[in-house]
Amino acid sequence: MGNLMKKNIIAMLCSVSVMYISAQTNALAQDATSESPNSCIWCHQEIGDELAEPIVAMEHDAHASKGLSCVDCHGGDPTAGFDEDETAAMNPAKGYIGVPSRKEIPQFCARCHSDPNYMRKYNPRVSTDQYDRYKTSIHGQKLAQGDSKVATCVDCHGAHGVFEVNDPRAKVFAINIPQTCGNCHSDSDYMDGYGISTRQVDDFKKGVHGIALLEKGDQAAPACNDCHGNHGAVPPGVPSIGFVCGQCHLNNSELFRSSPHMQAFAEEELPECETCHSNHDIEPPTDSMIGIGDESMCIDCHSEGSTGFEVAEILHAKIDTLKQNIVEADSLVAVASRAGMEVSEAVFSLSDANQSLIKSRTMAHALSVERLDEVTKEGNTQANSALSIGIAALDELQFRRKGLALSLVFIFVLAVGVYMKIREVDKRMDV
Ligand code: HEC
Ligand code: HEC
Ligand code: HEC
Ligand code: HEC
Ligand code: HEC
Ligand code: HEC
Ligand code: HEC
Ligand code: HEC
Ligand code: HEC
Repeated sequence: MGNLMKKNIIAMLCSVSVMYISAQTNALAQDATSESPNSCIWCHQEIGDELAEPIVAMEHDAHASKGLSCVDCHGGDPTAGFDEDETAAMNPAKGYIGVPSRKEIPQFCARCHSDPNYMRKYNPRVSTDQYDRYKTSIHGQKLAQGDSKVATCVDCHGAHGVFEVNDPRAKVFAINIPQTCGNCHSDSDYMDGYGISTRQVDDFKKGVHGIALLEKGDQAAPACNDCHGNHGAVPPGVPSIGFVCGQCHLNNSELFRSSPHMQAFAEEELPECETCHSNHDIEPPTDSMIGIGDESMCIDCHSEGSTGFEVAEILHAKIDTLKQNIVEADSLVAVASRAGMEVSEAVFSLSDANQSLIKSRTMAHALSVERLDEVTKEGNTQANSALSIGIAALDELQFRRKGLALSLVFIFVLAVGVYMKIREVDKRMDV
C-alpha cells in the first residue's frame, strides 16, 4: 500500500468519524428517509461562518421538520465530498442548482409547491396555486419584467427558517405581516421612484384594524394580506373594495349595495367603503359623521336643499334620539338599582335597546329613513320600557320612604307617650 493511499484511508476514516459525530449532534444531518450522512451539512458546519448559517436557521424549519434538507432545494450529491472536495458534492452533473437569482426564486420554490403529486405526499390538503397566483400579482408581473426589487417568495417566507404559516414565528403570521410588508413598503429609499406612498404601515397602525390586531391581539381584524391577498397582492381595485371589506362586514356591504350610493359611486368611480372610511387609517366611526354637523361627511357631497342633505339630517336625528332615550333611561335605572330596587327587567330592556342602537349605525348605510325607523322604533320601545320600570321603581322607593317616615313619627309619638306615662307614674310614687 502506497503512502498516498494510506493517507487517503486515514483521511477517510477521520471524515467518517467527524461525520458520525456531527450526524449525532445535528438532527438535520439525518435524512428522514435514509440513515445516510449528509456531506452538505458536514462540510458547511466544518467551514462555519456564513456557510453554516443556513444549518442553524433550519433547526426549526417547516422543510426540515418534513425531512427535507439542503439537497432537496439546492440539488447536488450529499454522499460525495467527504474528502473535502466540494465540487464532488456541489456538482451540476449531479443536479446541483446552487443559489437562485431573485428572478429565479419563484420557479425554484414552485418546483415542489406547484406539483400536486409531490406535495400530496407530505400534506394531502396543501394548496399548490401559490406560484400561479403570484404571477398575477403586481409583484409577480413586475418580476417577470425584470424588476427584482419586488417581493418574491423568500421576502415573505424566508429561505432557511421557513415556518409553517400558522406558527407565531412565521413572517406571514398575522401580527408579523405589517412588518414583513413594511420592510419594503415603509422604506422610502427602497421604494424611491415607484410613485407609491410609503405610509401604508404607519397608517394601518393608527387605524381601527391595526389597533385591534397589533395592540389588542384581535386576529379577527385584517392584516395587509386579508385585503390584498396572500399571493395575488394587488390593490383591491375600485369595483371590488366593497367585497374585500364585505368578507367581514357583510351587513354593511349588503346595505350599501341596496342604497342609492351603490349606483352613484359606481358611476363616479368612487371606491365603495374607502370613500367614507379610507383604507389603511380607518378611524373609529362616530354618530357625528352622519348628519349635517361640522364633523359630518355627508355635507362634503350633499348641500342644503338636496334630498341627500335632508335624509342625512333625519338619519342623524333618529340615531341621536335613540341614544338620548337610552342615556336617560340608563341613569334612572342606575339610581333605582343603587338604592337596592329590583330592576333586572329594565336592565334587559336597556341591553336590547343598545343592540338596536348598534344595528341602527349599520342600518344607516342603507340611507333609508323607513328602514332605519324599524330599528330605532324597536330600540325606543325598549328604552321607554326601561324608563317606565325605572320611574315605577323610584316611585315605589318614595312610597317606602314616606311609609318609613310615617312609622318613625308613629314610634316617636309612642315613645314620648310611654315616657310621659312613666314620669306620671314616678310622680305618683313620690307623693
Ligand atoms: C467539502 C465541503 C463542501 C461540501 C461537501 C458541500 N459544500 Fe456547499 N459550499 C462549500 C464551500 C467552500 C462553499 C463556498 C464557495 C463556493 O461557492 O463554492 C459552498 C457554497 C455553497 C452554496 C452557495 C453557493 C453560492 O453560489 O453562493 C450552496 C447553495 C451550497 N454550498 C450548497 C451545498 C449543498 C446542497 C451541498 C450538498 C449536496 C454542499 N453544499 C456540500 C463547501 C462544501
Ligand atoms: C426551502 C429551500 C432551501 C433549503 C431547504 C435550503 N436552502 Fe439554501 N437557499 C435557498 C434559497 C432560495 C436561497 C437564496 C436566498 C436569497 O436569495 O435570499 C439560498 C441560499 C443559500 C446560500 C447562499 C447564502 C445565503 O444564505 O443566501 C447558501 C450557502 C445556502 N443556501 C446553503 C444551504 C444549506 C447548507 C442548506 C441546508 C442546511 C440549505 N441551503 C437549505 C433555499 C433553500
Ligand atoms: C407578498 C408576500 C408573499 C409572497 C411574495 C409569497 N407568499 Fe406565500 N404566503 C403569504 C401569506 C400572507 C400566506 C398566508 C398566511 C396565512 O394563511 O395566514 C402565504 C401562504 C403560503 C403557503 C401556505 C399554503 C397557502 O397557500 O396558504 C405556502 C406553501 C406559500 N405561501 C408558498 C409561497 C411560494 C412558493 C411563493 C412564491 C411563488 C410565495 N409563497 C410567495 C405571503 C407571500
Ligand atoms: C423540494 C421541494 C420543496 C421546495 C424546493 C420548497 N418547498 Fe416549501 N415545502 C415543501 C414541503 C414538502 C412542505 C411541507 C408541506 C406541508 O406541511 O404543508 C413545504 C412547506 C412550506 C411552507 C409551510 C406551509 C404550511 O403548511 O404552513 C412554506 C411557507 C414553504 N414551504 C415555502 C417555500 C418557499 C418560500 C420555498 C422557496 C424558497 C420553498 N418552500 C421551496 C417542499 C418544498
Ligand atoms: C421585497 C420588497 C417587498 C415586499 C416584502 C413587499 N412588497 Fe409590495 N411591492 C414592492 C415593490 C417594489 C412594488 C412596486 C411595483 C411597481 O409598482 O412597479 C410593490 C407593489 C405592491 C402593490 C401594488 C401597488 C400599486 O399601487 O401598484 C401592493 C398592493 C403591494 N405591493 C402589497 C404588498 C403587501 C400586502 C406585502 C406584504 C404581504 C408586500 N407588498 C410586500 C416590494 C415589496
Ligand atoms: C382593510 C383593507 C386593507 C388593509 C388591511 C390593507 N390595505 Fe392596502 N389598500 C387597501 C385599499 C382599499 C387600497 C386602495 C386600492 C385602490 O384605491 O385602488 C389599498 C392600497 C394599497 C397600496 C397601493 C398604494 C396606496 O397606498 O394606495 C399598497 C402598497 C398597500 N395598500 C399596502 C398595504 C400594506 C403594506 C398593508 C398592511 C400594513 C395594507 N395595505 C393593509 C386596503 C387595505
Ligand atoms: C378580515 C376581516 C376584516 C376585513 C377584511 C375588514 N374588516 Fe373592518 N373590522 C374587522 C374587525 C374584527 C373589526 C373590529 C376591530 C375592533 O375591535 O375595534 C373591524 C372594525 C372596523 C371598523 C370600526 C367599527 C367600529 O364599530 O368601531 C370600520 C369602520 C371598519 N372595520 C371598516 C372596514 C373597511 C372599510 C374595510 C375594507 C376596506 C374593512 N373594515 C375590512 C374586520 C375586518
Ligand atoms: C363622496 C360623495 C358622497 C358622500 C360623502 C355622501 N354621498 Fe350621498 N350621494 C352621493 C351621490 C353622487 C349621490 C347620487 C346623486 C344625488 O342624488 O345626489 C348620492 C345620493 C344620496 C341619496 C339619495 C338621494 C336621492 O336623490 O334619492 C341619499 C339619501 C344620500 N346620498 C345620503 C347620504 C348620506 C346620509 C351621507 C352621509 C352618511 C352621504 N350621502 C354621503 C355622494 C355622496
Ligand atoms: C357615505 C359614507 C359611507 C360609506 C360609503 C360607508 N360607510 Fe360605514 N359608516 C359611515 C358612517 C357615517 C358611520 C357612522 C354611523 C354612526 O356611528 O352613527 C359608519 C359606520 C360604519 C361601521 C361601524 C358601525 C357598524 O356598522 O358596526 C362599520 C363597520 C362600517 N361603517 C363599515 C363600512 C363598510 C364595510 C362599507 C362598505 C361596504 C361602508 N362602511 C361604507 C359612512 C359610510
